[in-house]
Amino acid sequence: MGIYLKIVLSSLFLVVVQHLARLIYTCGFHKHVYNHQPGPCKYLDGVEFGSEDIATLPDGKAFITSGLLMPSASSHYRQRYIDSGVRGQIFFFDFKSPGSGVTSLTIQGNFNTSDFHPHGIDYWLDEISGKVYIFVVNHRQKMDAVEKFEFVPSDKTLKHVQSYIDHAIHFINDVAVTGENSFYFTNFLNSRGPFWGIFEIYLMLPLGSISYFDGKYYETVEEGYLMPNGLALSQDQRYLYMATSVNGAIKVFKRQPNTGQLIFVQEVKLYTSPDNPTIDPLTGHLLVGAQPIIIKTAQTLEDPRNPSPSQVLHFEVNEGTLSKTTELYINDGSVLYSSSVASLYGNQMLIGTINHKLLHCEVRTL
Ligand SMILES: *[C@@H]1O[C@H](CO)[C@@H](O)[C@H](O)[C@H]1NC(C)=O
Repeated sequence: MGIYLKIVLSSLFLVVVQHLARLIYTCGFHKHVYNHQPGPCKYLDGVEFGSEDIATLPDGKAFITSGLLMPSASSHYRQRYIDSGVRGQIFFFDFKSPGSGVTSLTIQGNFNTSDFHPHGIDYWLDEISGKVYIFVVNHRQKMDAVEKFEFVPSDKTLKHVQSYIDHAIHFINDVAVTGENSFYFTNFLNSRGPFWGIFEIYLMLPLGSISYFDGKYYETVEEGYLMPNGLALSQDQRYLYMATSVNGAIKVFKRQPNTGQLIFVQEVKLYTSPDNPTIDPLTGHLLVGAQPIIIKTAQTLEDPRNPSPSQVLHFEVNEGTLSKTTELYINDGSVLYSSSVASLYGNQMLIGTINHKLLHCEVRTL
């Protein structure tokens, strides 16, 4: 073998070993979870197949997405989804009336509810009219869309207002709303199909991005991320927080209010896999639901009956930046599988999951 061939082959070998080492580390085989919770916790009845993302209004009304079916789901998973009779829905919970539990909101208007597979969620509150609009990422069978609904409090229904569909909306994950008709969203993966999706995930290709819709045009404002996940805006709307899934971080950006452009401010590495950040509407602090052992979450994503651990982290927000990280909750999977989000309101917390239940906890430790 010539010397050059040897150099080429050994370099290639090192690249492969390096990638495998990174993959194995990312999987989290070496990690272990010791349970703790901030107070008594119980399941909220009625939620059996996920509570992936939560949007909580300043008055304590919470909207929860359920029945996630990602375009990248395996055929085995799809079959289970159909066999279990799962349907995409938005649950409602009022932090001011926790005893009332959750209710599934009826959707009105010209909207195909059998092609509704909700993922990320956010709201827009019109200060003048008092109207509440709910924006939801929807993985339709043929394409992804952002659906806009108006919440009708009198009869607890969602009135479908409009669907946002565009080439810029590819395989999206979450939405952060900046106005009645403008929002950021994350393009999670580049490939919508299961095969190329898996390829992208296992090669850890950073093909994800953040885009902004200003009411007229779609524009990519950040790119080069591996599976950019949940988004949240600070209370004053001047900062945007993004969680970068797998063994990731929270990235903090300052917004240019007129153009939607983002300026990088801070990155907080988490050594866990954060999913959706939310802002506590009463304190302005940030919470994130995470999956501490991602290989276990991959198993839950293959079959929702496989347990996997859950974790909630809390960060103080000062002038937009994050400090003082506290772990509010962690569970090895004996109670809650793969938490994806948490929402704090006073001394209560909801913890949502990718495809498991919804937990309500009293918070006595913060
Ligand atoms: C609603 O969605 C289902 C599932 O994708 C599809 O089979 C059906 O044709 C759709 N109905 C209409 C009226 O578009």
